[in-house]
Amino acid sequence: MSTEPIDRYAVAGNPVAHSRSPDIHAMFVAQTGERLLYERLLCPLDGFEASLRGFAAAGGCGCNVTVPFKFEAHDLAARRSPRAALAGAVNVLRFDTEEQGGWFGDNSDGLGLVRDIEHNAARPLAGLRVLLLGAGGASAGVLGSLIAARPAEIHLANRSADKAQALVESHADWAAQHGVRLAASGLENVGAGFDLLINGTSASLSGAAVPVSAAALKPGALALDMMYGPAARGFLDWAAAHGFEGRDGLGMLVEQAGESFLIWRGRRPETAPVLAALRAQLAVAP
Ligand code: ATR
Repeated sequence: MSTEPIDRYAVAGNPVAHSRSPDIHAMFVAQTGERLLYERLLCPLDGFEASLRGFAAAGGCGCNVTVPFKFEAHDLAARRSPRAALAGAVNVLRFDTEEQGGWFGDNSDGLGLVRDIEHNAARPLAGLRVLLLGAGGASAGVLGSLIAARPAEIHLANRSADKAQALVESHADWAAQHGVRLAASGLENVGAGFDLLINGTSASLSGAAVPVSAAALKPGALALDMMYGPAARGFLDWAAAHGFEGRDGLGMLVEQAGESFLIWRGRRPETAPVLAALRAQLAVAP
């Protein structure tokens, strides 16, 4: 048995009790044999930085960041990946030393989403027409990575069209560099013929209907909600009723965790068995 102190990681947020990340990372640890502990770190709403500094001083090597601290985490990082800078939000911090350049911030949400769509759902994004709903933190976190996967078009539709417009403007250069058409609008009259719908709104949380017409999608399109568990139920029922392939956000969650593990440990765990195990756990959960 090693007497070395164990490397500690955590999901930092408020609330965090519901987070599945500790289960996912426990499965990565069992699979890889990496010596680390992954915990939940509940941070007071006005005490995010103090909580992280305390955690780092107590052996923390890094953390995932969840609601509502992803923007604060962006500002706390001494260095950021280009995708995190573009998103303006950080969901992975690695507590590098001052000599190493200081805390490193990244955003694995978008990469996780892209991997889930391309590998798990077997829908390569290149050339597709994508309809992304919502212009809050969830959509901002993934837009850069979606663009980098080079679909033909991303149409960003949001209840408040001005927020969609602002997000599109902040990504215009990135989209041009990747040859991707980027458009913004409200939720009405988004057009038709989309291959992929991604719901990044929080509409499902409040039990609201899917905030766009099914006529926008091609038959057999993939319809993905970033929510999972009971929150995604209504969306999945809607997708099935219209003949779309419905998908929840559990795959994205596992894939972003895999990306985080890679950023911290330099190795990528196998995500497919972890996703299957998590689905089985949730299926039997009360
Ligand atoms: P998050 O960080 O989870 O994205 P957020 O920043 O509060 O949360 O953004 C929530 C998103 O869901 C917004 O795009 C919001 O639309 P507005 O910008 O018009 O507020 C969208 N949203 C929330 N409830 C909705 C509903 N019932 N119908 C359509 N869009 C909704």
